Amino acid sequence: MNNFIYENKTKVIFGKGGAKEYLRYLLEGYGETVMLAYGGGSIQKNGVYDEITAILTAAGKTVVEFPGIMPNPTYAKVQEGAKLARDNGVDFILAVGGGSVIDCCKIVAAQAVLDEDIWELEMDKHGTPARFLPMGSIVTVSGTGSEMNNGAVITNEEKKIKCGMLGAANDFALLDPSYTMSVPFTQVLSGAFDTLSHAMETYFGKPHDCNNLSDDLSEAVMRSVIANTRRLLAEPDSYEARSELMWASSMAENGILKIGKVTDFQCHQMEHQLGAYTDCNHGAGLAALHPVLYRHIYKEAAPKFKRFATRVWGIDPAGKSDEKVAAAGVEALADFIREIGLPASLREMGIPEDTDLAAIANSTNLTAGCCKKLSREEVLQIFQEAF
Ligand code: NZQ
Ligand code: ZN
Repeated sequence: MNNFIYENKTKVIFGKGGAKEYLRYLLEGYGETVMLAYGGGSIQKNGVYDEITAILTAAGKTVVEFPGIMPNPTYAKVQEGAKLARDNGVDFILAVGGGSVIDCCKIVAAQAVLDEDIWELEMDKHGTPARFLPMGSIVTVSGTGSEMNNGAVITNEEKKIKCGMLGAANDFALLDPSYTMSVPFTQVLSGAFDTLSHAMETYFGKPHDCNNLSDDLSEAVMRSVIANTRRLLAEPDSYEARSELMWASSMAENGILKIGKVTDFQCHQMEHQLGAYTDCNHGAGLAALHPVLYRHIYKEAAPKFKRFATRVWGIDPAGKSDEKVAAAGVEALADFIREIGLPASLREMGIPEDTDLAAIANSTNLTAGCCKKLSREEVLQIFQEAF
């Protein structure tokens, strides 16, 4: 096991009725003015907004609303939120939504108490913000695991870059699976695939040739996501399956699986740039790209891909070379994507034919590589093959 330092400050309250029972107490000790941040209106349709505002009012909070955070939140929206927080003397940010709302708020929490431009600080000066408004999140759609880390993915529309930034970590995260029952089924699937992708991108990070607890845990998360996604196909309203997916989503991105590993996340880097150019759905983009990427790299780490094939997909290795078993694992992943009805290509996702794939490939961040560092030409080839 490599050396590591692990800390996670987010208190998790998981289960039905968590907000009604605990939110009021969780907010004690913070100032009076709470920014209530949310997306495009789903929480108003499913009753979550009414439930939360009633709790805030009963707790004597002054509520400043920050609505309209879009999927793939923009840097302009971050600046809008930061100004709103400053102008209204916000003491605490309550994000109610999915990865997009939570990510936007993480950077708002930093920008609201920072004089300089946070994009310049992080991207140009390679600095990190040191102070934040405190925040907590109520998760209404699972998949990203954003609630238990301090990373945020923000789209800078002017620069045509979608990338990870560092922001505030939640003081608490309320995870009530019953809030996710109204999530459109395609989003449930793409969220589940996002979780699977996080586990895979960690699992195939270095070191990939040893037995370690982190990889064992990743396998458990992957098997659980696959089983519960299949269960949802048969019973779309299964609370049990949705709650398992919700916790798997946090587990995949709370740092536990990354302990002792150098993660790769090359597929995410590619999908993020695809998102910067097309505003596509995150989980769907990952589904279209993952098998193609893995077909390009599995031979460089055949033993690890073989382990993935046998332990995650149950492929029988008897009588087959390592490379054949490894390839079968990648095809099992591709079959799963088709089985659950996620897009198997960029075309199926509705990405326009005239999308400038070369520009996307040229602006994709190239990572150290789980087993092979890709060239720009190969990244372009992967986008073309995924079309
Ligand atoms: O905006 P509203 O109206 O709320 O609708 C949302 C949105 O359209 C809807 N929704 C959310 N809760 C709902 C609901 N609809 C009905 N009932 C509910 N209970 O779902 C749609 C998608 O929401 P969004 O927050 O965009 O989804 P997700 O959680 O997948 O977040 C995606 C963003 O997170 C980033 C992605 O890149 C993308 O920008 N990621 C963040 C990560 C992190 N911070 O750790 C890691 C991930 O890899 C990812 O990159
Ligand atoms: Zn993701």
